[in-house]
Amino acid sequence: MTKEEARKRMADLAKELHHHNHLYYVLSRPVMTDYAFDMLLKELEALEKAYPDLVDEHSPTCRIGGDVTDVFNTVKHQYPMLSLSNSYSLEEMADFEERVRKLLGAEEPEYVCELKYDGVAISLTYKNGKLFRAVTRGDGTQGEEITTNVKTIRSIPLELKGDYPDHFEIRGEIFLPLAQFERLNQERAAAGEALYANPRNTASGTLKSQDSSVVAHRRLDCYLYHLAGETVPFATHYNSLTGAGEWGFKVPGTQNNLIRKCNTIAEIYAFIAHWDKERGRLPFEIDGIVIKLNSYQQQERLGYTAKSPRWAIAYKFKAESVRTVLNAIAFQVGRTGSITPVAHLEPVLLAGTVVKRASLHNADQIEKLDVREGDTVYVEKGGEIIPKITGADIAQRALNSKPFQYITHCPECTTELVRKEGEANHYCPNEAGCPPQIKGRIEHYISRKAMDIDGLGSETTDLLFNAGLIKNIGDLYDLQAEQLLPLERMAEKSVNKLLNGVEASKAVPFERVLYALGIRYVGETVAKKLARHFKNIDALMATDEETLVNVEEIGEKIAKSLLLHFSDKNNVALIEHLRGKGVNFAAGQAEDSGSVKLAGAAFVVSGVFTHFSRDGIKAAVETNGGKMLSSVSSKTNYLIAGDKMGPAKRNKAEKLGVKVISEEEFMAMIA
Ligand code: IVH
Repeated sequence: MTKEEARKRMADLAKELHHHNHLYYVLSRPVMTDYAFDMLLKELEALEKAYPDLVDEHSPTCRIGGDVTDVFNTVKHQYPMLSLSNSYSLEEMADFEERVRKLLGAEEPEYVCELKYDGVAISLTYKNGKLFRAVTRGDGTQGEEITTNVKTIRSIPLELKGDYPDHFEIRGEIFLPLAQFERLNQERAAAGEALYANPRNTASGTLKSQDSSVVAHRRLDCYLYHLAGETVPFATHYNSLTGAGEWGFKVPGTQNNLIRKCNTIAEIYAFIAHWDKERGRLPFEIDGIVIKLNSYQQQERLGYTAKSPRWAIAYKFKAESVRTVLNAIAFQVGRTGSITPVAHLEPVLLAGTVVKRASLHNADQIEKLDVREGDTVYVEKGGEIIPKITGADIAQRALNSKPFQYITHCPECTTELVRKEGEANHYCPNEAGCPPQIKGRIEHYISRKAMDIDGLGSETTDLLFNAGLIKNIGDLYDLQAEQLLPLERMAEKSVNKLLNGVEASKAVPFERVLYALGIRYVGETVAKKLARHFKNIDALMATDEETLVNVEEIGEKIAKSLLLHFSDKNNVALIEHLRGKGVNFAAGQAEDSGSVKLAGAAFVVSGVFTHFSRDGIKAAVETNGGKMLSSVSSKTNYLIAGDKMGPAKRNKAEKLGVKVISEEEFMAMIA
């Protein structure tokens, strides 16, 4: 095959695959067997491997995933992503309808009723018929660019058909179908992993995954429900949706009553009643119904409040509630010693998911609800992630039942619990000897936003703790290969990775070290403020409450917590130990290292690396005066290519004349 022939064949394959993809995932009307489809896809993959310079960044092979996103870029929305005002009763709906009529005066309103998908809002921009970028809602003004991940969602077209505008934005909801949610949880159960709580959170977590092949595996789906901006070539919302359907988008259709035009409140009620009853049959979760005024011209007339359009409203279904037996109340001990009671329930299906546990918050809550072990309780799932118990069915209660006695001693280390004045939670004060507290602090220390120690996760932490090798974070820096190698699952490669990770953590900037120490109430932002204000740990440790509360964002609660932390000589000794090992306790040390080796150069990193974590390589670029960018553009000087980097990225870089370098070449640059 000549290169020209390859180019032609690749274009034909892409066209055919896009078409069958649309038939299968958007229209649910496949005409080709999965096998035949896979064969074509494999052929295209092979050609892309043979001719990387011919790879198109909208190729159907994007659906497989594989490209890694290092940092999700923050992008400002061209039009803000507003939310809808909510209503919880039919009366409120009638009020809305009446208000609209009043504002429209003589004109008759027409409404479109649709489902309120319970997923993650997404804004998609298309330029010249190709998916240009996908951005999350974020705070409504700006969100995160997650294009690489979104490209793996098969119902989202990478290329459009028909007569679309050159440049437009379309919005919708990405969700995890219930069948996929259950499949994932079955896989997790089989692997002994903790189950996902609900489809919405799983979808949102998935979209933030750095590895797009993870996203591809999850099988997310997406309905589009809003064309945004001034370039919309239609006069009504309804026609926009139909039009978008013709361009290849998955939009709700009238066939299954997913959407309906209504003229009266009675018709709106009928739509609501239908879905309140039938929503359990849908293959995905919805949490209400959305009613929108159909005509754009009328929408304009009604306008917006600061947060939401006046021309639309969401009707939220009541939280579903079920009854089940409360088998037992167990207790978890957190990293700060805080005790959380957890209800263990007889498994029960609630809003599409099997619920086995529910939160009980604290002793007061248990007393207030008077729930007892063995009770039949009501469990509800509203907007919150964890289902909650709302009460017990007293009529079902056994005659000899007694009020629940809250624990007085730590379930993990038997130390007597304390409850500080004004606080709802009980605490285990045995900071130095209570295993979940020790492990929790180590896990926090090594976590991604803290020291980001590669090669050390919670399982390895458990292993090292149980083997008596680490009793506090300071011990991490004393680990020796000879101690680790005899341990189960610790081959030479993982040992090296761990030790390198520990070594690399010495370059982590002071503000993250401060956060990593796990001082109560000192989160990422507070740590940043403190590091910038005090510059080093000595100044911070020497300060007083008055100085502290004068620092931006530091209140009395945080100040007291800091003073208490530094008044404990064990904590001070730990800091000294870490400092002795080379951990960074002064701001600007890294930045001021004087290295300007990469000054003025802009980098993009992609793939996985042998010597660095992704955050690690980014830190190395910045420490040496370089700049990190999140995607390849004409402003990029170097693309550092790791393992698993997709061909599209390399191709784009080469097209733009961006130098593609290996991890080793990068290391040579900063050596
Ligand atoms: S329209 C300007 N339609 O609900 C109005 N939103 O609180 C834009 N949602 O953030 C939104 N289904 O994530 C619209 N059919 C639907 C929807 C829907 C779910 C979500 C969306 C939005 C939130 C509004």
